[in-house]
Amino acid sequence: MCFELKFAGGIVHSDSECEHRRDADLKHTEEFNRVVYGAKKDYFDDVYGDKQIHLELLATHTDYQKRGAGSMLMRWGLQTAEEEGRIVTLIASPGAVGFYAHLRFATIFNLTIQLEGESEKVQAIGMRREKASAPTQELTGSVGSSS
Ligand SMILES: CC(C)(COP(=O)(O)OP(=O)(O)OC[C@H]1O[C@@H](n2cnc3c(N)ncnc32)[C@H](O)[C@@H]1OP(=O)(O)O)[C@@H](O)C(=O)NCCC(=O)NCCS
Repeated sequence: MCFELKFAGGIVHSDSECEHRRDADLKHTEEFNRVVYGAKKDYFDDVYGDKQIHLELLATHTDYQKRGAGSMLMRWGLQTAEEEGRIVTLIASPGAVGFYAHLRFATIFNLTIQLEGESEKVQAIGMRREKASAPTQELTGSVGSSS
């Protein structure tokens, strides 16, 4: 199997012979990375440097969404950041903005990635966790049933 996982810290390949994802349009991927990681650098990395924890890649199984698992997965990063006094940032897809807003994230930038001459476009939203004005209730929940 051949895969490429790109994240802020670098690229992980499934093996050394795998150069690029075969199911991806390279032009789209390059433009996405240029715009998104450019904004990440300008708005987050250059501003917060080492005082930042940047969260990447979060998903829960579709059969078990909205039962607390996503919040539970976020808890470690959020608690670590609070203990260390760090800013938490992430880049969200439009469908997940409500979830992150629930965890006190606010929108910092809103990107539209679109190649010239194409109607297809992708959105990415840069978010930063806001400071608590009161003790945080959302860090104490547990996974539960939706019924
Ligand atoms: C986003 C995602 C990780 C949330 O996981 P989850 O396990 O459903 O989240 P939780 O059950 O912990 O939800 C916590 C709260 O956020 C709410 N919530 C969850 N997803 C939401 C969404 N997309 N929009 C608005 N609110 C949302 C829940 O209703 C819940 O609110 P409540 O406590 O008042 O009931 C999950 O929907 C997912 O995997 N989505 C697809 C992948 C994705 O978009 N990942 C993020 C990429 S940046």
